[in-house]
Amino acid sequence: MRNVLITGGAGFIGSHVVRLFVKKYPNYHIINLDALTYAGNLYNLEDLESASNYTFVKGDICDEVLVHEIFQKYEIDSVINLAAESHVDRSISDPFSFVKTNVFGTLNLLETAKNYWKEDFSKKLFYHVSTDEVYGSLSSEGFFTEATSYNPKSPYSASKASSDHFVRAFANTYGLPIVISNCSNNYGPNQFPEKLIPLCIHNICENKPIPVYGNGQNVRDWLYVEDHASAIDTIFHRGKVNETYNVGGISERTNIEIVEKLIEITDTLLEREKGVSKSLITYVTDRAGHDFRYAIDTSKIERDLNWKPSMSFDKGIEQTVRWYLENQTWLEKITDGSYKDYYKTFASKK
Ligand code: NAD
Ligand code: DAU
Repeated sequence: MRNVLITGGAGFIGSHVVRLFVKKYPNYHIINLDALTYAGNLYNLEDLESASNYTFVKGDICDEVLVHEIFQKYEIDSVINLAAESHVDRSISDPFSFVKTNVFGTLNLLETAKNYWKEDFSKKLFYHVSTDEVYGSLSSEGFFTEATSYNPKSPYSASKASSDHFVRAFANTYGLPIVISNCSNNYGPNQFPEKLIPLCIHNICENKPIPVYGNGQNVRDWLYVEDHASAIDTIFHRGKVNETYNVGGISERTNIEIVEKLIEITDTLLEREKGVSKSLITYVTDRAGHDFRYAIDTSKIERDLNWKPSMSFDKGIEQTVRWYLENQTWLEKITDGSYKDYYKTFASKK
């Protein structure tokens, strides 16, 4: 029996992690703490509403009183921290909200866990989910390893790097048992449509312009979201305390390759003339300080934990497009704010 606090569980990756843990570990109690910002919604977890080992709490990871109450009430012994402001473009226009959630929020969770567990750190774990963006930007050569120096270049990655440093500082200073993973770009069902892949699919369907930043040659490494959830499960259970694991999809693509692939799949599934949506591609002003390339050396997690991605990019991306086409109502609900009414109904049932 474990009482696992998962933060940010109503978001894209968090919802897949919550689902995996609730279904795979019926003897664990999963407590999902999420503020339900614009990026989080309970439609992502409708299928879990009646699960007896699952509890949702609406709230902010920065709220000291609430987080302390949760630790006491549910006797939390492990944390998986996914709550974050996660969109680079928003961090450029509003860096303060990123520092608030990503830095202060993480610090509040660390401080609460340390104080609540301080009599006995055995069988406790603070797992912090982070990003490859903390390492900065690569040229066309090389990979990020766990030993790569931090060199964050956007307000988002600076806030995530700061939170990683606090997590390690709590391990070093107080002996808090921690583990960190740094992952590459995720794609798949339930991603908020401001990120490249769901935005493109949506715009292709609606015959709207597809904004490609700069010359479209920036490179990202793509991992199917369920593979990330399985990596988190593996690291949570078998990762070595105080270690860092890089997680990646071994699927590097330029942005324009991604856009063209999405056009090919979506046009085919919508039975449109082959390639007709290419005319929607619109090159726009580049993102300020746009990182050129991210790529992950995954040898440590493969060697030490025997984990590697199971989904090929070609299969995962087609499955993803199909999901968005079959779940248009999900998109309408999460973007029109009706999930707030849904939360009231759901909360009153519990
Ligand atoms: P997301 O934006 O889809 O979801 C974030 C969730 O956190 C939302 O449900 C939101 O409501 C919640 N949240 C935000 N602020 C909160 C607060 N103050 N208190 C409580 N909850 C709050 O993000 P995501 O893409 O699912 O990313 C999840 C985590 O994984 C983040 O820490 C992110 O940095 C990291 N990550 C993401 C990717 C990616 O490609 N998306 C890759 C590597 C790492
Ligand atoms: O690498 C992991 C990171 O991946 C995570 O930590 C972040 O939370 C996640 O948002 C993601 O960051 P990116 O900035 O790489 O993702 P995004 O989908 O915003 O952009 C992917 C690439 O596509 C990037 O090079 C910018 C470009 N882009 C993005 C958008 C939204 C466009 O060309 N046009 C767009 O409209």
